[in-house]
Amino acid sequence: MAFNNETVLITGTASGIGHAAVRRFAAEGCRVIATVEREDQIDAMAAMDGVALATKLDVRLPEDWAGVVEAAGAKLGGVDILFNNAGVTVWGGLEETDMELWNRMIAINLTGQFLGCKTVVPGMLAKGKGAIVNMASVNGIRGNTKLIGYSAAKGGIVAMTRSLALDYATKGIRVNCICPGTIDTPMAQTSIDIAEDKQAAIDALNAKHPMGRLGTAEEVASVAVFLAGSDSGYVTGQAIPVDGGRSVR
Ligand SMILES: NC(=O)c1ccc[n+]([C@@H]2O[C@H](COP(=O)([O-])OP(=O)(O)OC[C@H]3O[C@@H](n4cnc5c(N)ncnc54)[C@H](O)[C@@H]3O)[C@@H](O)[C@H]2O)c1
Repeated sequence: MAFNNETVLITGTASGIGHAAVRRFAAEGCRVIATVEREDQIDAMAAMDGVALATKLDVRLPEDWAGVVEAAGAKLGGVDILFNNAGVTVWGGLEETDMELWNRMIAINLTGQFLGCKTVVPGMLAKGKGAIVNMASVNGIRGNTKLIGYSAAKGGIVAMTRSLALDYATKGIRVNCICPGTIDTPMAQTSIDIAEDKQAAIDALNAKHPMGRLGTAEEVASVAVFLAGSDSGYVTGQAIPVDGGRSVR
């Protein structure tokens, strides 16, 4: 068994990869803390099998992180696994990216994951074990046009992951990140929705990936499960592409 009743905190669980990850971790017998961006998303998550706690957590807010991790300590013996999944993408190159958009991309995608690591690591150090899975992107390891804020944040996550892995390598805490290609979730759908020719947009996205299709949320969630459990016990500091071959083309 790769898990032994661990408590996993997952961010951004109302949709997409985070939602699939709740199901996958619950199926492994983990106790899931399903966090969501907004209060009105809590009830649906609380009703899912295996969810021990459903609560609002805006990843930008240190006080939200502190509250959730405190509740996890009181009710569930602390956080054993963190899946820093929440994120948001907005297309834009240098001309389209003003300070507001730049700061938003960095605050949600990069600072949010830094805050998550900062808040859970003390408890993991006290236990002498833990696993962190950060959500990067293929855009953090390969170039993409008109996507500077999001790409900078995702590249930062890859670098932060490597640095943290080294800092905690002898302390029982493994830190890895996932670099998905385009995954069929609401996030990918937004870039299709804004295209004039939607079928052409879908065809272009499929063609970017050597396997000729988008990935599924489940195909990313299963890699998060692998990186969080003892099956990957000797893996740390890695940025794992889950991209149908896109990053090796
Ligand atoms: N879908 C893709 O093609 C793709 C590719 C590479 C990486 N990713 C990454 O995967 C992760 C999940 O994305 P997804 O594809 O499931 O999209 P999604 O839009 O379905 O999920 C993103 C989730 O993050 C939440 N979120 C946004 N801002 C937040 C905030 N400030 N605080 C807390 N939660 C917040 C949203 O409510 C949403 O549930 C993201 O980090 C994304 O960057 C997605």
